[in-house]
Amino acid sequence: MDFSLSEEHIMIRDAARDFAQTELLPGVIERDNKQKFPKELVKKMGELGFMGIMVDPKYGGSGMDAISYVLIMEELSKIDASASVMVSVNNSLVCYGLESYGSEEQKQKYLTKLATGEFLGAFCLSEPEAGSDATSQRTTAIDKGDHYLINGTKNWITNGGSADIYLVIAQTDKDKGSHGINAFIIEKGVDGFHVGPKEDKLGIRGSDTHTLQFNDVKVPKKNRIGANGSGFRFAMKTLSGGRIGIASQALGIASGAYELALKYSKERKAFGTEICNHQAIAFKLADMYTDIEAARHLVMKAAWDKDQGNNYDRSSAMAKLYASKVAMEHTVEAVQIHGGNGFVKEYHVERLMRDAKITQIYEGTSEIQKIVISRGLLRD
Ligand code: CAA
Ligand code: FAD
Repeated sequence: MDFSLSEEHIMIRDAARDFAQTELLPGVIERDNKQKFPKELVKKMGELGFMGIMVDPKYGGSGMDAISYVLIMEELSKIDASASVMVSVNNSLVCYGLESYGSEEQKQKYLTKLATGEFLGAFCLSEPEAGSDATSQRTTAIDKGDHYLINGTKNWITNGGSADIYLVIAQTDKDKGSHGINAFIIEKGVDGFHVGPKEDKLGIRGSDTHTLQFNDVKVPKKNRIGANGSGFRFAMKTLSGGRIGIASQALGIASGAYELALKYSKERKAFGTEICNHQAIAFKLADMYTDIEAARHLVMKAAWDKDQGNNYDRSSAMAKLYASKVAMEHTVEAVQIHGGNGFVKEYHVERLMRDAKITQIYEGTSEIQKIVISRGLLRD
């Protein structure tokens, strides 16, 4: 067993750290306030290979492993979780979904642009009546011979307003339940596709989240991903990888808050000494560091499982469940260590605390991760 990073992994991590410090840190508070994320930053992330981290170079990707993906996600998330969710959705939901289950034609047409950051992708599973209960899809995709006709509503879609390509899950044959569901590629701007207003959110405010409406949207048959009826399994398999991305986002949020809290505790004085010399603060730091290390091991194990070709449904659920809990609990502690300064934007920890919450909700709530983990345990 080897817990050390290779020289290549260290270089990748340092490149992401450098990018986060020089390009993401300036303006992160303004982006959070204004709920904006400039296209140029997505382009820069594409140039660095961050939009297609694990994609085969023959499709324009960086050809890196899942460990590299986690390292990049952690570094971006320490500074800007809005940037990292865009990276996570594009990489582990959209690019992975297309590369693993798409046709060669779909890969050539869409993946090559998504992997370089020329296009941005969105993954559309959730609906007003089908969030956790994802098999209850109401959006319909009716087979019309050479095309499908899509009708329905998707909500909470990350990159909903800024994406070029949407992977949309819809019900073709209700009687077949989860076996009657399909996944489709829909291009922005097609007739009958409407993007609703941007949600005004608690956290990850730089990332745009929208409701999407599909009214008689015609999708050519060649845009269906995989065999007829394979859309639910496509979504579940893709989400298992996505959960490694969100787990590493949570890890980054927690470690970013810890680093800020450690630094502040060594500078701020109270009762004649730096506050880190008060045991109540030192013990908080000890708890934070221990829990973050434990989360890192779970996240790395899930990524390692993926790289080894092992099943990672359960390890990714465990990593997301635990890392998101650590992120929520310890960003609150980081604010506490900062005292009053923790409550204002310029110290960054209040944003990390707000951003942490979403990691317990999206790509399957913590309760859903426990369903995935416990079903796996009982099945074994
Ligand atoms: N791999 C392959 N097949 C799978 C699978 C997996 N990981 N998980 C389930 N399936 C199969 C099952 O085997 C079953 O097939 P059979 O009928 O042939 O046995 C079928 O799919 C239905 O599965 P379940 O009976 O387990 O379905 P369920 O209704 O009990 O729901 C669930 C299972 C795990 C709760 C699932 O609905 C779920 O994951 N819900 C959460 C949805 C979610 O994570 N949404 C995230 C949206 S994307 C997002 O959030 C992005 C973002 O924010 C940035
Ligand atoms: P519900 O399913 O209504 O759940 C409500 C509560 O009940 C939760 O606490 C849940 O855990 C609990 N619950 C539900 N069922 C059970 C059960 N069986 N046992 C125990 N507890 C249960 N979706 C996408 O498809 N694409 C995206 O890009 C995307 N991005 C998002 C971005 C943001 C900012 C947000 C807020 C959401 C995003 N989502 C996206 C949707 C997200 O995946 C869902 O919000 C999430 O899956 C939960 O669904 P829900 O909101 O309908 O909650």
